[in-house]
Parts: sequence; structure tokens; C-alpha cells
Amino acid sequence: MVAATLTVENHLPADFIARTLRQDVATGLTADPKWLPPRWFYDDRGSELFDEITRLPEYYPTRAERQILTARAAEIAEVSAATALVELGAGACEKTHLLLDALRAAGSLRTYVPVDVSDGALRTASANLLWDYPGLAVHAVVADFDRHLGLLPVDGHRMVALLGGTIGNLDPARFLADVRATLRPGETLLLGTDLVKSPDVLVPAYDDAQGVTAEFNRNVLNVLNAELGADFETGAFDHVARWDAEHERIEMRLRAQHAMRVRIAEVDLTVDLRRGEEIRTEISAKFRRERVVALLDAAGFGLTRWWTDDDGLFGLSLATAR
Ligand code: AVJ
Repeated sequence: MVAATLTVENHLPADFIARTLRQDVATGLTADPKWLPPRWFYDDRGSELFDEITRLPEYYPTRAERQILTARAAEIAEVSAATALVELGAGACEKTHLLLDALRAAGSLRTYVPVDVSDGALRTASANLLWDYPGLAVHAVVADFDRHLGLLPVDGHRMVALLGGTIGNLDPARFLADVRATLRPGETLLLGTDLVKSPDVLVPAYDDAQGVTAEFNRNVLNVLNAELGADFETGAFDHVARWDAEHERIEMRLRAQHAMRVRIAEVDLTVDLRRGEEIRTEISAKFRRERVVALLDAAGFGLTRWWTDDDGLFGLSLATAR
């Protein structure tokens, strides 16, 4: 048996998280309307809550995407013929297993490159994989995949995967252009996109009966309290999930139950909120097939395969760089 190998490459300066969090807070909380980027949800507690979200009856995207991957992993492996899988935001190991198993069975896979900003999560997940895939070279990269795609390894015939509908949080045209710029013609992108559907299905997925999503949403204020010495009264905010039909996106917000003044010590910032004022904490864009094709095309990709789950809730694209 050939031992698997693990290398971890950290591309983030030691103070990257502290610095970008400060910047984001200084920008977003002085804007009108106020906003915070969704990336700050995911401290240890937030990642745990997100994990819980993926198992909620109302939150269909994870199950829908898993159904597609289960049915199509072999085809993905065959069509991509990837020797290296680069997974951006590599939290969900369960889906990774489906892809790695299929790529191994197809005989091509040599390297797995999980990319995440969280060094700890990356190390744990990667180390666990080593046992299951003897001979696999795991080359973990600690980086912010939305900013540092240029730093990814260039060897092999790569497939880049962005699953879970995470592209709904990003500027899709810019992000896809960045991915395309790192790939050679013939290399592939595996992209999960949550689809436009009735608000009767969408809104409960972001406002579940158990209140897990509400807690996940409020947790971003705990992160600011812990990391920046802020004094948000976390319990004084209501969770709001709204379907924006014009932009075809879910917006999550936190609404102040009363007027308040918040001090954010480490950015030397005082923020006043009116009673009922909302801070936007997430945009989760939903897509239609035509828009995905147009976005991919504009970025220099051709759509090679398009699949949905049986209920047409979620889309998975396999696209090839031109
Ligand atoms: C991880 C961005 C795909 O938008 O559905 C889940 C995050 N927010 N519930 C999504 C999320 C609220 C999730 N993504």
C-alpha cells in the first residue's frame, strides 16, 4: 500500500482574518443600508450551525445536490478525466467522498486540493481523507478562494469544484472569470447552483421552524463581539429572510428590536441603529439554467453537462474551459 501524503500550504498572512474583518466591518456598518459579508458567519460555532442547517427538513439544497452527485459522480469522473480535484470552500467532506470515490474508480485521480480559509477545518478534514485514499496526494491550501485563486497548484488535469450553491454569495461573473483565468483549455469546473423556485419553498429554507438559521444569522454578531470587542446585544435582533423577486435572491437580515448604540472597540467605531433598522448579512442568489449558461459562456466556459435533482430544485453544471 502506498501511503497517502498531506501537505498544507498557508497563503494567508497571519493577520489576514483580523484585517479583512476590520475592513469589512468598517465598510459595511458605515454604509446605508448597513451590511456584513456572509463569510464571517463561519467561526467554529457558525460552521456547526451551518452543518445543522444542512440537515433541516426545510433546507433542501444539500440533499438535492447530494442526490445529483450520487447519480452522476461516475459520469463526472469520466467526462472530466481529472487527475486533480480542486475543491473551493472544502467544508462538506461527504460530497467530497462521492467525487473522490468516482475519480479513483475511473483510475485518473492523483491529487486532491481542498481550499479553505480555515486552517483547522482543512487539516482535520484532509487528515481524515488520508486513511480512505491510499496513494492520494492531498495538497491542502489555506486561502480565500474568492481572492487568491491565482495561488492554486497548476499541475495535472484539473477539475475545480464549487458546490452547495456558494456561488450565490459571490459576484458570479467576476468569480467565474477568475476561475477561468487559472485553468487551461479542456480543464473543467463543477458548479452547484440553487435554482429559482416558489418563495413558499425558498423562504422556509432560510427561516426554519426550529430557529437554527436565525441563530446562525445572529452568530455573526457574536463573531464581531469576540473578534473586535464589539458590544452587540445579540438577542435584540430579529432574523429576517426575504425573497427579492426582482433580483431572484434570498436576503438575510438582522433587524434591531430597539434603537441602540453599538461600540466596536477594535475598529474604533460607534454605530447607531434605529428601531427596526436592518443589517443585511447575506445575499443568496438563485439561478436559472439560461443564466448559468450565459455566465459560464461569458467567462470562457462551455456547458458540458447540466443536471438537476428529481424535483428540479438544484442545478449542477459541468463546464469546460475553452
Ligand atoms: C453556504 C451560501 C450555500 O446560501 O444556502 C444557509 C448559506 N445561509 N442558510 C446558502 C446559508 C442560510 C448557504 N451557502
